[in-house]
Amino acid sequence: MKVYLDNSATSYPKPEDVYYSVFNYMKNIGANPGRGGYANVLEGDRIIFSCREALMKLFNFNKLENVIFTSNITESLNILLKSVIKEGWHIITSSMEHNSILRPLSNLKETKHIDLDIIECPESGILNIEDFKKAIKLNTKLVVLTHASNIIGSIQPLKEVGKICQKKGIYFIVDSAQSAGAIPVDFSEIGCNALAFTGHKSLLGPQGTGGFLIDDDLNKEASPFIEGGTGSLSKSITQPDFLPDKFESGTLNAPGIAGLLAGINYITKAGILSIQEKEQQLCQHFIDGLLNIPSIKVYGSKDASLRTPTISINSTKINNAELGFILDRDYGIMARSGLHCAPLAHKTIKTLAEGTLRFSLGPFNDKKDIDYTLYALNLILGSV
Ligand SMILES: Cc1ncc(COP(=O)(O)O)c(C=O)c1O
Repeated sequence: MKVYLDNSATSYPKPEDVYYSVFNYMKNIGANPGRGGYANVLEGDRIIFSCREALMKLFNFNKLENVIFTSNITESLNILLKSVIKEGWHIITSSMEHNSILRPLSNLKETKHIDLDIIECPESGILNIEDFKKAIKLNTKLVVLTHASNIIGSIQPLKEVGKICQKKGIYFIVDSAQSAGAIPVDFSEIGCNALAFTGHKSLLGPQGTGGFLIDDDLNKEASPFIEGGTGSLSKSITQPDFLPDKFESGTLNAPGIAGLLAGINYITKAGILSIQEKEQQLCQHFIDGLLNIPSIKVYGSKDASLRTPTISINSTKINNAELGFILDRDYGIMARSGLHCAPLAHKTIKTLAEGTLRFSLGPFNDKKDIDYTLYALNLILGSV
C-alpha cells in the first residue's frame, strides 16, 4: 500500500482532468500564447484567459489583467518584494515565514538597507496582534505574512492585520502557498495589496505554475523585475508598463496553466468549503489518534477547525528522520522530515535542532490512509 501524506510539499495525486489538460495542450494545441494570431495560438490565449478568470473568482479579486503568472510562489514573492521595496523602508514579517520570504528580505537588508522586523510568534504559531501593533513605526511601508504555516498549519489573523495596514497606509503582501485551495482565501476580505499563490499545492495544478494578484496601488510602486519578450509592443526595446505584460516576460508555462485551470475547476466544482470540511475531519481523526500514542508530541493546535491539515510531530523514542524513513521503507507512507525551509518557524515551536516529521493531507486522502498511518506508527513506536 502507498499513502501520500506530503501535500504541503506538492499535492498528489491530481484530479484526472489535470493530467488530461496538460497532455492535451502539449499534444493537440502546442502553440505559444500571445505569439501570433492563428487558431492554436488563440486557443492557448483562451486557456490562459480562463485560468486568470478562475483565479480571480477563486480569490474574490476584481481585475483580470492584474492576475500574473510565474513559475511558482518563490518567484512571485521575489518579484513582489524586490520590485516594490525601496531603500530604507521598514518591513514587518513574522517568524512563521518560509525561506521564500525570509531569504529575499535578508538580501534586501544587505542590498537596500531595509529595516527588517521579524516578529517572534508564540508557540501556537499565531501572530499576536498587540506585538504587531507595537512593531509598527512611522516608516513602516510593508507587511508580508504567510496565511498558513507549512509546519503546524496555524492560520494568521490576516483580516485584522489587513485592517490595521489599510488604516495606516502600509502595503500588505500575503503568501497563500499553504492556504489557497485548502481554505477560503478572499483578497478583498483580507484587505491586502498583493496575494502570491503557487499552483502545485492545494490548487492541484502541475509543478511550474504560480503567480500573484496585485492591486493598482502596489503596482504603481513596482518596477518590472524580469524584462524581455511579451508578444506585445514588439517594436519597443523597453518593457511594457501595462499588466499582465509588465511582469510576464518570456514564454508562459501554457501546458501547466491548462492543468492549473483544471485543478481550480475541480476545487470550484467540489466547493472549497466541502474540501475544507473533509480535510478537517480527517485531520481531527489523525490528531486524536496521534495523541493516543504516548511517545508522540503533536505541535500546534489540537483542534482541526483552527488549522490547515499540516501536522508536525516528534517522538521521544526515535528521531524524526529515522521514523520517516521506516514509514516509507516498510509501510509505503510518504511524509517529510526536517526543517521544511522554515528555520525560524522551527525555532518558534522549539524544534530547530531536530526538525519534525510532517504529515500533510490532501483532498484524495481518506480514513483508510489515516488509520493505516496510525497503525504503522503504533507498531514502529511500540517495538523500539
Ligand atoms: C508557506 C510557503 N511559502 C512558499 C513556499 C514555496 O513554494 P514553491 O516551492 O512552490 O515556490 C512554500 C512551499 O513549501 C510554502 O509552504
